[in-house]
Formats: sequence, structure tokens, C-alpha cells
Amino acid sequence: MKTIAFFNNKGGVGKTSLVYHLAWMFRLLGRSVVAVDLDPQSNLTTAFLPQVRLEQLWGNGQSGLTVLAAVQPLMERLGDLRSPHVEEIAADMFSSLSLVPGDLGLSMFEDRLAAAWKDCMDDNPAEAGDAFRVMSSFHRIMERATSSSAAEVVLIDVGPNLGALNRAALVAADYVVVPLGADVFSLQGLRNLGPTLSRWRSGWRNRLANEARPPNISLPKGEMWPIGYVIMQHSAREERPVQAYQRWIDRIPDLYHELLLGEAPPAPSPDEHMLATIRHYRSLMPLAQEARKPMFLLRPADGAIGSHAAAVQRCYRDFEQLARRIAQRAGIDAS
Ligand SMILES: Nc1ncnc2c1ncn2[C@@H]1O[C@H](COP(=O)(O)OP(=O)(O)OP(=O)(O)O)[C@@H](O)[C@H]1O
Ligand SMILES: [Mg+2]
Repeated sequence: MKTIAFFNNKGGVGKTSLVYHLAWMFRLLGRSVVAVDLDPQSNLTTAFLPQVRLEQLWGNGQSGLTVLAAVQPLMERLGDLRSPHVEEIAADMFSSLSLVPGDLGLSMFEDRLAAAWKDCMDDNPAEAGDAFRVMSSFHRIMERATSSSAAEVVLIDVGPNLGALNRAALVAADYVVVPLGADVFSLQGLRNLGPTLSRWRSGWRNRLANEARPPNISLPKGEMWPIGYVIMQHSAREERPVQAYQRWIDRIPDLYHELLLGEAPPAPSPDEHMLATIRHYRSLMPLAQEARKPMFLLRPADGAIGSHAAAVQRCYRDFEQLARRIAQRAGIDAS
């Protein structure tokens, strides 16, 4: 299992859209994928599932079909994790795409996760055991989801903040991809993200060293290794001078290396952490949302005719290249 989180605490940079499109693309490349929606806003779940299914999931209080149901016993201190429901989105005999659906109620887990982070340092095995069970809950959900769907790749979507929920989500991630807009806010996000990831990584390492930790539950390594950034082209690009846009882009490699990797800027040659630039497909996105499919699978019947058809092909190439780059950097076979 390889787990990859898409993270930038700046909101609206395109995290959810990336996870959605990459999940489909990894499957097209023959990999079985589980997408995990750990953002209480649950936009990823809304993108994947039709309205009637969303009503079954969320319509009558607790359906037992979302990530919340899996962590509920831990939240209420009634027991350990329940096996998560894994929603099949697409499957054939070669590969599958599944979703662990999100839930607005997941935000109620935040306080428990914040306390558990502290209690993982407790030298009382009962206290520490409970805290480690809580802190490892997302990791264990991913293990169960991948084993029930025979998947090897897990893509994690999170909300735009640096809270306890996201800390637990990131602790469950082997790798982190940082989507960036070419603007001052995204770069500010990077300034917060770099030190925060280092703190979470070393914090988790310290907790794993606690001798009172339980011996018999699966704990994540908490690597959260930054494998690169994706530049999301700005929607309002035309409204700004090209030079202003380019100025921000030019600063990204240095800032990324300094803040996320704690190392000197790369040589002027291509930066291996620069995974891709994803264009803003202004006209395709509404068609894709309407058709409930990724932009690169739109067909003439979905309205992708004329210049849209050419954009669909370009979009396919963008995401295929990005998925292959991520696969290469994360050691996933996508040849
Ligand atoms: N490549 C793209 N082309 C066109 N529109 C896009 C693209 N990527 C994202 N968008 C649009 O930009 C908006 C924000 O994207 P998205 O919801 O993926 O961001 P996010 O980072 O997940 O936001 P949040 O921080 O709120 O979770 C959405 O309306 C989405 O449809
Ligand atoms: Mg989102």
C-alpha cells in the first residue's frame, strides 16, 4: 500500500479535483485505487457519487456508509475501529476504483484526535494504547480498504487547514503532493506547510518511541515525504499581467526546497520536484461535473465537441503525465 496525501493549507487550490482526476487516471494506467475523503466538507464524495447515493449516505443521519461510521466507536469511547464501508466506483477484472466516503460529522473527531496526539506520550499503557488506536485510525481504515478492494494506491483528500484531523490524515500518508496556485496566498501556504510537516513528522517519531505504545496494532510510519508540487494554473490568469504570474512561478522551486525539504534551492536545471502544471480547463470542468466523470473522459455526447474535444485530449495528456510522475516518485508501477 502506498498512501499519498494532497495537501496545502491554502483553500481552493484544486486538491479535490486533483485527487478525483488522478484516481481515475491511476485506474486507467492499470492500478487499483482507493480514494479516501477525509475533508468533512466531503467535496470528493460529491464528485464521485450521484445525488441518490449521496442521499442514502447522508440523508437519514447515520447510514454506516461513511468514514465516520468506522471511527464512531473510537469517538464515543465504546471500542475500536469498525471496518470501513468501501464504495466501488468502477471495476473490471484488472483494476478497480473505490471510495471511502466523507462525512461532515468527521469534524467531531477533531477534539479526540487533538487529545490523542498528546496522550500518545503517556507512560501509562492503557492511556497510550487508546491514544495510539485513535491516532492510527485513518491508517488502519486505509489498510482495511486496500485489502478488501485489493488496491495498492491510496489517494487522500483533506481540507485546507493545519488542525488535528489533518495531522492524523498526514501521519497516515507515506507521501505528500503539494498543489500550488501561482499566487501569494499559495506561497504563504507553503511557508506554513513546510515547518508544520516537519513538526508532525518528528512529533510522530517521538511518539513511536514511547515504550508504552501498544504492541499489537498496526501503526503508520508517518513518513509524509514531500514528493513534489503541482502548479495549478490560475483561473484569473488573463486578468493579470503574464509577468506577475510568472514571477510567482519562478519563486516556487526555491521556496519549496527551502521550506519543505530544508535544503538549498535546486540548480537551474529542471526541478525534479516540479511534477506538472495543470491547466485551468474552464470550459471542461462544468461539462465534467454535469456528466460526473473526469474531464479527460468527456465525449461528444457529453458536449465535448469542437475545441472542447481537443482540450479533452490535452487534459488526458496532462493527467497521464502527472500520474506517471507521481508513480515514479512514489515507487508505484504504472508502466
Ligand atoms: N484544472 C482545473 N480546471 C478547471 N477548474 C478547476 C481545475 N482544478 C480545480 N478547478 C475548480 O476550482 C475550484 C476549486 O477546486 P477544488 O475544490 O479541487 O479545490 P480544493 O483545494 O480541494 O478546495 P478546498 O480547499 O475548499 O478543499 C473548483 O470549482 C474546481 O471545479
Ligand atoms: Mg477540497
